[in-house]
Amino acid sequence: MNDLDPEGPGLVVGAENLEFLPSLPDGAFTMIYLDPPFNTGRAQVRATTRSVRAQGDESDPGDRIGFGGRSYTTVKGVLSRYDDAFSDYWEFLEPRLREAWRLLAEDGTLYLHLDYREVHYAKVMLDVLFGRECFLNEIIWAYDFGGRTKKRWPTKHDTILVYVKDPQGYWFDSEEVDREPYMAPGLVTPEKVARGKLPTDVWWHTIVSPTGKEKTGYPTQKPLGLLRRMVAASSRPGDWVLDFFAGSGTLGAAAEQLGRKYVLVDQNPEALEVMRKRLPNAQFR
Ligand SMILES: C[S@@+](CC[C@H](N)C(=O)[O-])C[C@H]1O[C@@H](n2cnc3c(N)ncnc32)[C@H](O)[C@@H]1O
Repeated sequence: MNDLDPEGPGLVVGAENLEFLPSLPDGAFTMIYLDPPFNTGRAQVRATTRSVRAQGDESDPGDRIGFGGRSYTTVKGVLSRYDDAFSDYWEFLEPRLREAWRLLAEDGTLYLHLDYREVHYAKVMLDVLFGRECFLNEIIWAYDFGGRTKKRWPTKHDTILVYVKDPQGYWFDSEEVDREPYMAPGLVTPEKVARGKLPTDVWWHTIVSPTGKEKTGYPTQKPLGLLRRMVAASSRPGDWVLDFFAGSGTLGAAAEQLGRKYVLVDQNPEALEVMRKRLPNAQFR
C-alpha cells in the first residue's frame, strides 16, 4: 500500500501490525507513537526454577543457604503459566520496532509508551536497534489515581522513551507545546505567569476520567493531552503520524485536532469499533 493520500482522510486499518506494516513506504512518518500491550497475549507454559523454604533439619536440609541462614530447597521444573518474560517480550517487540525505524522519516521521532515493568528491557532493546546516540528523552507521565498500597511505594507513573532517527536532524518545536502554570508564580514576572512554562520531561496529567467525556470505554485508552503534546512538538501540520497499537485511536484524535495525517492499526475488533465512533472522518480498511 504505497498510496498514502495527502488529501485524503486519516486511515484506520484492522490488521495484525507486523503483517500490515511492510506495505507502508519507507520514511513516511514524522512521528510514531506506540503503546504496546504489556501482555503479548501468548500465555506459555515453561519449566521455571522456584525456591521454597525447606525445614532445614536432617530430613530436609535444603541445598542452598539463603539470607538469615535459612535453608532453601531449589525446586526445579515447576510448571507455571507466564506472559511477558524478557525473551518473549523481545521477540514480540523487536521486529515491530525495526519496522518503526524503517517507517520513520529522516527527521522523525518515535515515542514508546511503557510501564515500569517493561521500560528497562525496552531501553536496552532500543539502544541496540536505534543506537544510544538516538535516545532523546525519557518522559515520565505521573498521575494520581486509584488506591495506594502500603506495602511499597505506590506506582503512579508510566515511562515514554523517545528516540529520533537522526540526532542531528530531528524535528522538535517546543514553541508549539502547551505550557504549564508556574509552581511559584510569585517568583516570576506577570508576563511569564501569563505565558506559563515549558513542560520538562516529567508530565503531570490526570488519567482519562472514568466519568469524563474523553472516555471511549476502551480499557487502555491514554489521555489526549499527552498525545497532543507529542504530536505538537514532533511533527508539523500536514505531516503523517502512525500508531500501530492504536487501541481507541487517541493518536488519530490528536492528529485530527492538530491538522496531521494519520495511519492507525489495530487487530482487535473492539478497538476498531471504538475508533469508528471516535474518528468518523477516517477511512477504514
Ligand atoms: C495498550 S493498547 C493501546 C491503547 C491506545 N494507546 C489508546 O490510547 O487507546 C494496545 C493495543 O495494541 C493492539 N495490539 C496488540 N498486538 C497487536 C498486533 N500484533 N497487531 C495489531 N494490534 C495489536 C491491542 O488490540 C490494543 O488495542
